[in-house]
Amino acid sequence: MRIHKTKNYDELSRKAADLIFAQVMLRPACVLGLATGSTPIGTYQCLIQDHQNKGLDFSQVVTVNLDEYRGLTGDNDQSYRYFMNHQLFHHINIPLSHTNVPNGIIAPDKACDEYERLIRNLGGIDMQVLGLGHNGHIGFNEPADHFVADTHQVDLAQKTIDANTRFFANVDAVPRQAITMGIGTIMKARKILLLVSGEEKADILNQVINGPITPLVPASILQLHPDVTVIADEAALSKTAL
Ligand code: GLP
Repeated sequence: MRIHKTKNYDELSRKAADLIFAQVMLRPACVLGLATGSTPIGTYQCLIQDHQNKGLDFSQVVTVNLDEYRGLTGDNDQSYRYFMNHQLFHHINIPLSHTNVPNGIIAPDKACDEYERLIRNLGGIDMQVLGLGHNGHIGFNEPADHFVADTHQVDLAQKTIDANTRFFANVDAVPRQAITMGIGTIMKARKILLLVSGEEKADILNQVINGPITPLVPASILQLHPDVTVIADEAALSKTAL
């Protein structure tokens, strides 16, 4: 794991955007794996600026998002499809037909099979962006007694439901299930960027980097990946011995 420590969230966002910029320059038709949550929003804003001011061209890029809530259509403003459209896709020159988010509406088995096939047919993911859940989840791979390899349906952990309530009217409105890329799907990405910000992630980030590899801390599996860059601010790294 390469660890890149930044002073603050803005510097984290710029650094992550620079690495994505380089990936798109290197391979204009690359496959980018993208994430939702509040952490990557600043990165997406930097990429929008790069598109507007530096001509960063997304016309050939294909994206696959990590996860989607079950039961929400793309026009629901709490869905991850809606989030991606509004935080990024509508502001850059990527054809919407090149953007993919798991389908939370159709039968889960079908949605999962189709998503795995799609990623395989694209030739895999060149660069996968990840945030980190408060309980160590990546995508919606929650702490469990084993790692699940492929895209699958999950029951969300209470900690995740509580953390994500801030985006909904109240806790009862938070979906209880989601479709997520599996740990194997994520680990097959050729490069991974893990973005972590803020003191409230300091304990879990230390476990991810220095703790045992265990499905109880799903992101700890990233220790085994050959090309992971952790971009984290000082606050998030405040409990990590480097
Ligand atoms: C959600 C998403 C994750 C994301 C996590 C952290 O649960 N499914 O992909 O990494 O939230 O979100 P935040 O960046 O807002 O802390």
